[in-house]
Amino acid sequence: MARFTAIRTAGVNWSTRPARPTDAEDLAFIDAAASENPWSRRQFVSACTGPGAQHESALVAEEETTLCGFVVYSLVLDEASIYNIAVLPHYQRRGLARHLLGITLANLANRGAIRALLEVRASNVAARNLYASFQFQLDSVRENYYPASQGREDAVLMSRLL
Ligand SMILES: CC(C)(COP(=O)(O)OP(=O)(O)OC[C@H]1O[C@@H](n2cnc3c(N)ncnc32)[C@H](O)[C@@H]1OP(=O)(O)O)[C@@H](O)C(=O)NCCC(=O)NCCS
Repeated sequence: MARFTAIRTAGVNWSTRPARPTDAEDLAFIDAAASENPWSRRQFVSACTGPGAQHESALVAEEETTLCGFVVYSLVLDEASIYNIAVLPHYQRRGLARHLLGITLANLANRGAIRALLEVRASNVAARNLYASFQFQLDSVRENYYPASQGREDAVLMSRLL
């Protein structure tokens, strides 16, 4: 993973780097602010353990010292999984998730990933549009998989070749 990448888009100056153990709290904060179904802090701890770990890893984006987005992923043999991606509401719709996902998929391909998988709530239009724009294709639907505010909702399983 490149240690540092900086871009400037529409007046925003982001840099990206692998997550550090001390980032878990901030990632949980971003997820709680952005997502209707956020992960707990504990779920972010292993992703922030450090690059090279055999489990989940995370890439974070920051503007100056503010963490504003992240993506959590894994690579097992030649199969990559995207587990979570979120951007602070104030930073959304400026291309930050596209930037994070693009860097992550390119890096995973460079590390030998052949396929990337993910799962998303059927009602999550923003994330589904994001993934569709990266040519993720629908593989299957797990009906009533997630608890939802009113009953349950389907999980949509998507994948693409890298
Ligand atoms: C999904 C999410 C990460 C997108 O972040 P973002 O930085 O705003 O996304 P980008 O600006 O890079 O947008 C990339 C594309 O995603 C889609 N998209 C993003 N937000 C959208 C929205 N609110 N409605 C519809 N499509 C949306 C669009 O196709 C967009 O391309 P466009 O701007 O050219 O139309 C953000 O909405 C978020 O944090 N959501 C809560 C967490 C979550 O649900 N994560 C997914 C877990 S599976």
